[in-house]
Amino acid sequence: MFRKADTSAAWAFILATLLFFIGGLLTTVVPPMVDKSWAKPFKNADPAKGITGELKPLGSLEQQGRAIYQREGCWYCHTQQVRTILADTKRYGWRGVDAPVSTPDEFVFDSPHMFGTKRTGPDLARVGGKYNEQWHRTHFKNPRELVPGSIMPPYPWIANNPAEFKALLAYMQSLGRAKEWRPANDYEK
Ligand code: HEC
Repeated sequence: MFRKADTSAAWAFILATLLFFIGGLLTTVVPPMVDKSWAKPFKNADPAKGITGELKPLGSLEQQGRAIYQREGCWYCHTQQVRTILADTKRYGWRGVDAPVSTPDEFVFDSPHMFGTKRTGPDLARVGGKYNEQWHRTHFKNPRELVPGSIMPPYPWIANNPAEFKALLAYMQSLGRAKEWRPANDYEK
């Protein structure tokens, strides 16, 4: 049967399609059926490493902020998933402490998810508590004031709208906080 694929386009197509679906089943459908912990909210995943905390659904203010994040298309440029590669854990870490890799149990309340696909800007999965309110306000008003050469667009209509800014800030500060992974709870308000 496999030999036939060498000489027949139809067989090659049929076998390739079959392999494609087997691959899809094995990598996306079977794992969550086997490992049920994926669907449970994160909770004290690794006390040995001092990673504590618990994932809670977003509050209403944070949800408003998330809606603004969606509306403005922040996710065109920003992902929200720290991959299993060293560059990610280092870059999104904090004062020498590596950021924990994102795990499925951190996203159970997200609908739609905001993983994003394109890393034009930095990943935001661990940005909660990295900067304070003043930093975010200035950054949304004009990113280039803080990061010369930044290609992030300015969002003055958010920075100058207290209700929207407050909501988006609350959402930003909630990101990645469940794991409380930074030393001595070193978070900015
Ligand atoms: C055109 C792509 C683009 C869009 C759209 C965009 N950003 Fe950015 N963002 C960037 C880039 C590039 C940086 C890195 C330079 C900087 O800090 O300004 C960045 C940086 C950031 C940072 C600082 C991250 C860190 O770890 O230093 C935050 C927070 C942020 N963006 C939030 C947002 C939010 C919220 C929105 C939507 C309102 C948004 N961005 C829209 C490109 C974008």
